[in-house]
Amino acid sequence: MTLSGKRILLIIGGGIAAYKSLDLIRRLRERGAAVRCLMTAAAQQFVTPLSVGALSADHVFTDLFDRDDEHDVGHIRLSREADLVVVAPATADLMAKLAHGLANDLASNVLLAANKPVLIAPAMNPKMWEHPATRRNAEQLARDGVRLVGPNAGEMAESGEAGEGRMAEPLEIVAAIEAMLDDNPGPLSGKTIIVTSGPTHEPIDPVRYIANRSSGKQGHAIAAALARLGADVRLVSGPVAIADPQGVKTVHVESAVEMRDAVEQLLPADAAIFVAAVADWRAESTAAQKIKKGPGEDAPVLRMTENPDILATVGHHAKRPRLVIGFAAETDHVEKNAAGKLKRKGADIIVANDVSHGSGIGPSGVMGGDRNKVVIISRGGAEEWPEMDKHGVAERLAALVAERLESAES
Ligand code: CTP
Repeated sequence: MTLSGKRILLIIGGGIAAYKSLDLIRRLRERGAAVRCLMTAAAQQFVTPLSVGALSADHVFTDLFDRDDEHDVGHIRLSREADLVVVAPATADLMAKLAHGLANDLASNVLLAANKPVLIAPAMNPKMWEHPATRRNAEQLARDGVRLVGPNAGEMAESGEAGEGRMAEPLEIVAAIEAMLDDNPGPLSGKTIIVTSGPTHEPIDPVRYIANRSSGKQGHAIAAALARLGADVRLVSGPVAIADPQGVKTVHVESAVEMRDAVEQLLPADAAIFVAAVADWRAESTAAQKIKKGPGEDAPVLRMTENPDILATVGHHAKRPRLVIGFAAETDHVEKNAAGKLKRKGADIIVANDVSHGSGIGPSGVMGGDRNKVVIISRGGAEEWPEMDKHGVAERLAALVAERLESAES
């Protein structure tokens, strides 16, 4: 009984997928969970409180202004008395309300008052799921720490339309719940890890800067993978277009100097992983006013000065973490160049990225792709990993960090 003693508050939204929630209640109770249900008005058009109550063997909450319900439990206590709040099906309307903090019925009030983790299983027409408003809401919810399971692709029950929008199957939702309520601490729990990610922007004047095409995808994926293994992750990110990873404390910076200062502030740490594509140079002086082009004037000359090497600074720091990992983008002599970097920068591992064959390169032929082929260089030698997507590299690197920190302790 994997969920023995766990209390789940299930909010059932108004969609045809509500019929699957009946099975979900059964599956959760089979695993030992106590399930208390709350139904929106629309949900009651699809399944009845009578069936939900019979399966959950508990009172079903439906009305914000029910005097008896408020007297016995109250909408604030409803969420407080649960270990996890699950919304299944989560309609576009419920997602929008939660993303914007609306509270005009019992479900939205409970969600806003919840101080427990929230898992939502979206279910809606594929066009509604694809709509920019729903996309924005889903991203906002992820940023707020709400977990999503599904939706899956397939044919819609009511319209026969195909696409993404089908609610995840009850057993998939159960697996997501089990993962969220897993009491086993991950192998990195209690460990603090700093990760740098993204590009840096080096100012020229108040409106112009020098940058590079780093997307931050690899660094952010590593931060998220470390957090999933229980680490306390501090991500120092340059300007990127992707969301902050879940479960990670993110510090936003612009320039290399700001990134160095932010990283030094976060020391001491057990490990530090430098994935950011830090600009090697910055403008020697930054104009306080926008540089104007005068008639007949020559183009300005930019004098550059070297940026601090953040990896090398931390690799030789008095508060050096036990494990220091750098990245290197190489086109030739991959292992030899990376081994040189290992020594020079005081790193324990260099993840060398062979960019000569196009891996890690985006569709336009530049940085920012979704796949990566890396060689792991340490004093012990070189280990080549097969090409995989950036999440795969992140998972495997996080496992390697856990292994290295554990062997350093024993
Ligand atoms: N790095 C850093 N601070 C810098 C420059 C680089 O922390 N100012 C880190 C990067 O995050 C990465 C590694 O050092 O972990 C990359 O080293 P770098 O010397 O920039 O190598 P490449 O990017 O591979 O390029 P090159 O060898 O051409 O300099």
